[in-house]
Amino acid sequence: MISVKVPASSANLGAGFDCMGVALKLYNIIEVEEIEKGLIITSSPDDPSIAKDENNLVFRAMKTVFDEVGWYPRGLRINLINEIPLTRGLGSSAACISGGIYAANLLSGGKLSEEEMIYLAAKMEGHPDNSTPAMIGGLVFAVLEDKKVNYIKFVVPARLKFAVFIPDFQLSTEYARNILPKYIEFKDAVFNIGRATLFASAITTGNYELLPAATQDRLHQPYRKKLIPDFDKIVNLSIEAGAKGAFLSGAGPSIIALVDENYEVFEQNVKNALASMELAANWDLVILEA
Ligand code: HSE
Repeated sequence: MISVKVPASSANLGAGFDCMGVALKLYNIIEVEEIEKGLIITSSPDDPSIAKDENNLVFRAMKTVFDEVGWYPRGLRINLINEIPLTRGLGSSAACISGGIYAANLLSGGKLSEEEMIYLAAKMEGHPDNSTPAMIGGLVFAVLEDKKVNYIKFVVPARLKFAVFIPDFQLSTEYARNILPKYIEFKDAVFNIGRATLFASAITTGNYELLPAATQDRLHQPYRKKLIPDFDKIVNLSIEAGAKGAFLSGAGPSIIALVDENYEVFEQNVKNALASMELAANWDLVILEA
């Protein structure tokens, strides 16, 4: 049996819409083995929204590899052990896609290179900012081209923590992409280019005091935050508690705050603030490392 451990991921990181993302230490495990015939899919916890047939996303990702290399198992058993919450902006789909591709490549004899797997995953998801860190870990700057992903991976020091606020509701990425405008103003594009560039420099050189400015965004958050009733409250209470920037995780609805030091103090202050604003019942707080 082949077992693949694949991380959660957070895309965009403020200004880097569709081109920046980070793997987080929260994992799904995908177990696969060839069987005599048929397709058996099990998952724990057993969520009814996870398809158990050929529509299953892990299976579909595996099939892209089998089609690519021209080898098919006689039958397939897939067991999914999921820790990444579904439809919360934490890369659960990318984990299925990247993990499925990685597992299928192992099962079929390892014919694809890492670059080829990264490309297949990004092509299947449509953007590389979750699937690339899910495949190779780290914080990734990535651009999906015609036949490849151009990317750079950076390993984030453990001292920087990712405080993840997870709400008690789901938000489909498709819906959150469809509400974005077709055109944006030139000044907003300029705004984001500056911040994304600043973020890349600040994160890789450890200049974390620049992160609150570098994580500002005008491409997607102004539109998506209307779908997340407490967005401004969570961002503001995080900044007041000392976060180095707070932003939507991917398409949302989770929100991430960057915490440089004294994360235990941050966590306590934020929990107190959530309780006093009567938000504690609706928002979980989990502190993760990249
Ligand atoms: N960059 C993507 C988005 C990530 O914001 O729509 C979501 O999967």
